[in-house]
Amino acid sequence: MAEYSTLGSVAVLQVNNPPVNSFSHHVRQALVDGLERAQRDPAVRSIVIMGKGRTFPAGADIREFGSGAAVKMPNLLMVLQAVDTCQKPVVSAIHGTALGGGFELALASHYRLAVPSARMGLPEVHLGILPGAGGTQRLPRVVGVKTAIQMITSGQHIKAQQALSLGIVDKIVQGDLLKEAVSFARSVEGRPVEDRRISQKTVPEADKVDEVVEAARKTILRKARGAIAPMTCVQAIQASVLPFEAGMAREAELMAFLMTSWQAPAQQYAFFSEREVRRWSHPRDKRINFKTAKPRVVKSVGVVGAGTMGMGITINLLQAGLKVVMLEVNKKQLDKAVNTIKKTLSQKSASQKMSQLTTAMDYSQLRDVDIVIEAVFENMRLKKEVFRKLDAVTKPQTILASNTSGLNIDEIAAVTKRPDKVVGTHFFAPANVMRLLENIYGRQTSPETVATAMQLGVTIGKVGVLVGNCPGFVGNRMLGSYTAEAVFLLEEGAEPQDVDRAIEEFGFPMGPFRMGDLSGTDIGWKGRIAKGLTTEHGPPPATPALYRRGNRYCPLPDMLCMKGRLGQKTGAGWYRYEPGSRTALPDPVVLQMIQDYRQEHGFKKRTISSQEIVERCLYPLINEGFHILDEGIAARSLDIDVIYLFGYGWPRHTGGPMYYAERVIGLEKLLCSLETYSARYPDHAHLQPSPLLRNMVAKGGSLAALGTDSKL
Ligand code: 3HC
Ligand code: NAI
Repeated sequence: MAEYSTLGSVAVLQVNNPPVNSFSHHVRQALVDGLERAQRDPAVRSIVIMGKGRTFPAGADIREFGSGAAVKMPNLLMVLQAVDTCQKPVVSAIHGTALGGGFELALASHYRLAVPSARMGLPEVHLGILPGAGGTQRLPRVVGVKTAIQMITSGQHIKAQQALSLGIVDKIVQGDLLKEAVSFARSVEGRPVEDRRISQKTVPEADKVDEVVEAARKTILRKARGAIAPMTCVQAIQASVLPFEAGMAREAELMAFLMTSWQAPAQQYAFFSEREVRRWSHPRDKRINFKTAKPRVVKSVGVVGAGTMGMGITINLLQAGLKVVMLEVNKKQLDKAVNTIKKTLSQKSASQKMSQLTTAMDYSQLRDVDIVIEAVFENMRLKKEVFRKLDAVTKPQTILASNTSGLNIDEIAAVTKRPDKVVGTHFFAPANVMRLLENIYGRQTSPETVATAMQLGVTIGKVGVLVGNCPGFVGNRMLGSYTAEAVFLLEEGAEPQDVDRAIEEFGFPMGPFRMGDLSGTDIGWKGRIAKGLTTEHGPPPATPALYRRGNRYCPLPDMLCMKGRLGQKTGAGWYRYEPGSRTALPDPVVLQMIQDYRQEHGFKKRTISSQEIVERCLYPLINEGFHILDEGIAARSLDIDVIYLFGYGWPRHTGGPMYYAERVIGLEKLLCSLETYSARYPDHAHLQPSPLLRNMVAKGGSLAALGTDSKL
C-alpha cells in the first residue's frame, strides 16, 4: 500500500510494501488514489512520494509477471501518467535503491531528491525486458541518448552523486529525508509544473541519434551474446526523438515483444533462482536445511596456499571485513601474494583492510581462526598432509574447508579427528571476482558446518550453492562430458575455432578450447596423469590409443601438452598467441597435428554444422545434470542452473542448462537427440540418456516438481 498523510500543505505518499516496496497491484491502486486525494484537497499544495523502510520502490513486482495481477488496472503507466500530469508539484524523495519502475516513477515526478547513499538505475535488461513505464523515453530526455543507452543496456546502478551530475537528481539532501523532502516541496509550491515535466522536453542532440546508435550497436550485440533485450532497449531509446506519445507507443510495442519472448521468463527464473539457493536443504535429508541448521560465527579465516586461488580468496575475505591469516610454504610466493592483494584492494580502504591480514609460514599461527580454507596444489596426498596438520594445530571447533576442484571430501575428512567439521568450499577463478561458491558436504559433515559454509558465502557476497560429494562435484563433473565431446568433434573434422565459434554464438563468453588455453591445458592433463589415464610421455604401456578402461578416449589434449603447449601462459595451446597478446590465433601446427592424428586413426574428416557442435557439447552436459539430480548430488535443478550461470558463463538469457533443457529444447526432443547421437556413437558413455530423463519423458514429470523450486 501507500500510506497517505499530510504535513501542512504537503501530502506525503509513503509506499509500504516490504521488502523492496515493489509496485504490486495494491501499491499502484493506493498511489493513484493518493494522488487523486491530494489533487482534490485544496489545502494540499505539493506532494512527496517516498518509500517506507529500507528503500524507494525497486520496481515492478516481478512475481506478478505473467499473472493477471500484472495487467490489473491501474497499471504502472497509469500511475506514472497521474504523477506526470498532476497539477501540484510532485517530489520523489529517494533512499535505498530506486530501480526499474521505481526510477521511472522518480523520472515522471517534477522534482527528485536523494540521500547520498541512494542508488538508481534501470536493470530491466537483466530480466529480459525493457524499462516499459517510460524509462526509455524520459531518461534520454535528461541525459541524452548515448548515456541512456549505456545505462539501460548495462542495467547498471548509479550513485546519487553521479545522478546529480547527470542532471537526474535535483538535490542531494543530508539528514532526515522526510523532513528535507517536505521542506523542499514547500519551497516549490505554486511554481508551474509544466516546465518540470520531463515528458515535455526534447532529447538533446536529437539529430545525432542514428549515429550514436550505429556506434554502439556492435559492442552491444557482442556483449549481449544472443540476448535480445539489449538491442530492443536501444530501439526503444531511439524512438525517444519522436513526440512523447509516439515514443511511448513504440516502447509499449517493444515491451510486448520482449515480455512474450522465451528469454524474459528465463531471465526472471535466473533472478529468483539466484535468491532461492539461499534457502538450501540437504539434498539427501530435507530435514537439514537453512531453517534448522545454525551457522557458527566466523570472524577470522585461515587461508592455506597463497597461489592463484588462495590470493583471490584472501582478497574476497578482506573485502568483506574478515580477519585473515594467510599461510604459504614458499616465501617468494607469499610476498608476491601480499603485493597483489595490496594492489587489488581499493585505494580508499587498502591500509585498513591490509591491517586485517596476517601472513604466516608456520601452521601454529592458524591456531585461533574460526575456519581454514585450504588452497594448496590439487594433490590428494598433499591435501591429506595439510589436513592432518590443520587438525593438530587448530582449536577443536575450527571448521576445515578445502577448495579442491573435485577431490573426494570424505577421503580428506577421514585423516582428521573432526570429519563433521570438514566441508568443501569450491571457489572459481578469479576468486575475488567470480560470484559462485560451490559448497560440498561430505558423508559426515554436520548441519552446523554446512550452515557455516553457506553463511560465509553470504558474508563475502557469493552465490553459495550446496551440493553433494562426487568426482568434480556438480560443475566440473558436468563440464567433463562437454570437454570430452568437444575433442571428439576434432577427431571427426571440426577445428578448435569451429567448436569455439559455435559455443560462443550460443552465448558462452568462451568456447572450450579458448577456455582451455586461458586456464592452462595442463590442469586437465595433470588430472589424467593422476588417474593413470595417461603419462607425461604418452599412453600407459599396453594401452589402446583410443580407449581407457573400456571408455572412448581422445589423446589429442595430452599430445598438445606433450608438445609444451600449455595455453596462454606458454604462448601456445590450442591456439597461438603473439607476445603480450591474448588473442587466440588458429595455428597451422595444431591443425596439422589434428589432421595427422585423424589419418593415423582412420577418421574421415567431415563438415560438422554449428547446430551439431552445440548439441554434441551441451546435451551430454545437461544429461549429466539429470544423473546428478537422480543421485541426489544436487537438491534441485535450479541449484545446477545457478552453478552454471555464476561459475561457467552459461548465458543467462537461456535460464541455465536444466531450465533450457526443459523449457526451451523440451525434454522429449532432448531425449530423442541423445538417443540419435548415442546410436551413432555407442561408445560415448555420456551420450546415453539418463534414466531420470527417460522416466520424466515417459511419465510427463517436470524438473521443478523434483525439488522445492516448484513455486518458480
Ligand atoms: N519484485 C518482486 N520481488 C522482488 C523484487 C521485485 N522487483 N526485487 C526484489 N524482490 C524480492 C527478492 O526476490 C527477495 O525475495 P526473497 O527474500 O523471498 O528471496 C527480496 O525481495 C529481497 O531481495 P534481495 O535479496 O535481492 O535483496 P537485496 O537487498 O540484496 O537487493 C534489490 C535489493 C537491489 C532491490 C534487488 O532485490 C534487486 O535488484 N531487485 C530487482 C530490481 C529490478 O529488477 N527492478 C526492475 C523490475 S522490472 C520493472 O520495474 C518493469 C518496469 O520497467 C515496467
Ligand atoms: P597454485 O599452484 O596457484 O597455488 C598453490 C599454492 O599452494 C602454491 O603457492 C604453493 O606454494 C602452496 N602450497 C603447496 N603446498 C603447501 C603447503 N603444504 N602449505 C601451504 N602452502 C602450500 O594453485 P591454485 O590454482 O591456486 O589451486 C589451489 C587449489 O584450488 C587446488 O586444489 C585447485 O584444484 C583449486 N582450484 C583451482 C582453480 C583455478 O582455476 N586455479 C579453480 C578452483 C579451484
